[in-house]
Amino acid sequence: MSTYVHDPMVLSQLFHLNSEPWLNEAAYRGAPFVQEFRSNPAAARIALPATLPGPLHELATNRRSVRAFQPAPMPLAALAALLRAGYGVHGPDPMEGGGHFLRRPVPSAGGLYPLEIYALVHRVEGLAAGIYHYDALGDALETVRAGDWQQEAASMFYTWPFVDQAPVILCLAAMFGRTQKKYGPRGYRYILLEAGHVAQNICLVAAEGGLASLCMGGYRDGALNRLLGLSAPAEGVVYTLGLGQAALPLAMGSPP
Ligand SMILES: Cc1cc2nc3c(=O)[nH]c(=O)nc-3n(C[C@H](O)[C@H](O)[C@H](O)COP(=O)(O)O)c2cc1C
Repeated sequence: MSTYVHDPMVLSQLFHLNSEPWLNEAAYRGAPFVQEFRSNPAAARIALPATLPGPLHELATNRRSVRAFQPAPMPLAALAALLRAGYGVHGPDPMEGGGHFLRRPVPSAGGLYPLEIYALVHRVEGLAAGIYHYDALGDALETVRAGDWQQEAASMFYTWPFVDQAPVILCLAAMFGRTQKKYGPRGYRYILLEAGHVAQNICLVAAEGGLASLCMGGYRDGALNRLLGLSAPAEGVVYTLGLGQAALPLAMGSPP
């Protein structure tokens, strides 16, 4: 028998607050790396035909995580392209029954777009180091805080040594209520799924522009939310990405 909690918001937001990184040392230290797959040799098998070559297929195939970035600055146009590919505003598209709808490059449950992107800018041409918010509707960056943020961020990212030279770290922050006011607790799932769509768009457009990416879930929520000025539990970072030029040629994948 299932037990339901009739609370549209608080349970999922409390879960979010209570899922700070959990350092499972044993899983990192000395444990053999095993990838698991489901395969049933007894099942009737249908071999699949080859994929027709195409640029998107190639980008998806060649994308991989990079854990060392060059200290080279990123052009502002490259950052703009990443932000627009992730969560830019297009349109308007006319809606049935009147009004219009501002499309974005990712699917969004109910078209409610719960995410906001914050950029931790280290080295971007024409942009002072600082913390910025992407105003998607205005297609502009708003200064949240000028100056160095790196010293503070170093203790917030478990992956800091991988991204300390990255010219930009993007933080996808959820305004949970935008989606949860319609979908309740289930909306929390939708928000995380949508963040995955956004991150993948950013990774693929980065790859198209010769940039590397590292998607990161290993950060301290409370501290990072405070750095960005987000009010928990209603708002919170759900995903982060380091972006820039790879320090080493993209070679063999290395599981963390
Ligand atoms: C939700 C999520 C969270 C991740 N968090 C981290 C992280 O905190 N640190 C890290 O080094 N890699 C992180 N990764 C990257 C994975 O380790 C990487 O994608 C995986 O090893 C496969 O390698 P590839 O991306 O090169 O294909 C994360 C990936 C995902 C999807």
